[in-house]
Amino acid sequence: MQIIAEQPGHTGGIEGLLDLAFGTDRSNKTVYRLRAGVEPLRELCFVALQNNHIEGTIRYWPITIGMEHPALLLGPIAVAEHRRSEGLGGVLIRYSLNRAAALGHRIVLLVGDAPYYQRFGFSRAQTLGLTLPGPVNLDRFLGLDLVPGALDGLSGDVRSIL
Ligand SMILES: CC(C)(COP(=O)(O)OP(=O)(O)OC[C@H]1O[C@@H](n2cnc3c(N)ncnc32)[C@H](O)[C@@H]1OP(=O)(O)O)[C@@H](O)C(=O)NCCC(=O)NCCS
Repeated sequence: MQIIAEQPGHTGGIEGLLDLAFGTDRSNKTVYRLRAGVEPLRELCFVALQNNHIEGTIRYWPITIGMEHPALLLGPIAVAEHRRSEGLGGVLIRYSLNRAAALGHRIVLLVGDAPYYQRFGFSRAQTLGLTLPGPVNLDRFLGLDLVPGALDGLSGDVRSIL
């Protein structure tokens, strides 16, 4: 298994994996409002490849909190069903978060299952002052500071960079 930077030729395989994991109607979700018309951050998009087959994908989008606090939106992440619970999701998340921190990013937000993401340090407590541009189950709105304290006391609307 190799973790490599996503390439343009991977798009079809990634979309197929995401369709299976989240359904083809996934773009109706609130987080897609933050992604609409914005390219993912290429330097933080990775695939897990085995025998040239895409077994996992992780992408990040640039967002802002208010007008002046840049942040990352983690996701989507998906691992092929036959490869789950082997640690691949954890490898993709830790690898990309380390890259994000090394690149100077300070804040990561996501909408996902807290029982999964809390092992990487994400919590709802970090997003209490933040508002998303649409309905979500707030228990699933999670944040992580890559720079300790970056989310402390922060409040405002989470916005697209457009
Ligand atoms: C979530 C996902 C990426 C995890 O990938 P993975 O390679 O299986 O993850 P890991 O091997 O690092 O971790 C697996 C562990 O996390 C647990 N886990 C997986 N998804 C979970 C969830 N949604 N909530 C709580 N625990 C979860 C598994 O039960 C497993 O536990 P175990 O180690 O005790 O067996 C993968 O299950 C997936 O693609 N799911 C469908 C898409 C999805 O839900 N994406 C995330 C949005 S919330």
